Amino acid sequence: MVKYRFKALIKFLKFHITADNLHQLHSPFMFDFARFCLYNRTNFSDYEILKRYQYQLNQLEELITVKDLGAGSKTFTSTQRRIKDIAHIAGSSYTDMKRLYRISRYFKPKNILELGTSLGKATLAMSLGQPQAKMTTVEGDHAILKIAKQQLNNQPVGQIKFISDDFETFLNILNQSQEKFDLIYLDGHHSYKPTIQYFNKLLPHIHNDTVLIIDDIYWSNEMQEAWAYLKKHPAVYQSVDTYYFGLLLFRKEQFRQHFKINLLSLNLF
Ligand SMILES: C[S@@+](CC[C@H](N)C(=O)[O-])C[C@H]1O[C@@H](n2cnc3c(N)ncnc32)[C@H](O)[C@@H]1O
Repeated sequence: MVKYRFKALIKFLKFHITADNLHQLHSPFMFDFARFCLYNRTNFSDYEILKRYQYQLNQLEELITVKDLGAGSKTFTSTQRRIKDIAHIAGSSYTDMKRLYRISRYFKPKNILELGTSLGKATLAMSLGQPQAKMTTVEGDHAILKIAKQQLNNQPVGQIKFISDDFETFLNILNQSQEKFDLIYLDGHHSYKPTIQYFNKLLPHIHNDTVLIIDDIYWSNEMQEAWAYLKKHPAVYQSVDTYYFGLLLFRKEQFRQHFKINLLSLNLF
């Protein structure tokens, strides 16, 4: 564990030494995105809803049996888990939720897809950021999804379609349609092969302005390798590595460019 923490610290420091802050971004598109979205310090009133949702989940002491899908957990050792612990360990943090809220609000997607609902923290954040959007969220663990549905039921969210399925089955069915998404959040099964496979199956459902977010790109060596592969994929025109998550963009009208943005830098403007 100590060795793992040390390695994680080295990765974190390496990233921060090489990442750009706002004034090092020369692309107008990226500058605006960083300034008005990533670094936006407005205290949106919707943040209260995100905070309350987090508090609501933290009150749930009930134990449930989960399937432990994907790459498994680095923290949990049993499949019997307290709901509040799942929310705390597997779910987005309040800071992540605020970032996802701002990304959704900034890009104004009409159709959002999330792979990996868990207890719906990111689902709420992205839906609240653009309540007019239609959202589809996919979770392979039926027990977890049931709780997410119950908890999101009394939240001021837009139209959400909950799908209880593994990602692969869902994507195989999706591939029979022409449906396109404007914002996609891939947050589950953090291993090399599945991440690349899901990306390939998602490709027919992206368009020029789609934003694809891949979470936890530094979670493991496999995820770093997956990220390195994806950002060089011919369909990808720009990528943004924020350490916490990576964004893939497909905007052909812009140069192929890869950015590293330091979200912790203090940008005074
Ligand atoms: C990191 S959590 C998602 C966190 C959530 N997006 C949030 O922001 O709170 C990943 C979720 O993906 C689900 N998952 C992992 N691999 C999956 C797969 N292959 N098919 C379906 N669900 C999967 C897990 O059950 C877990 O609930």
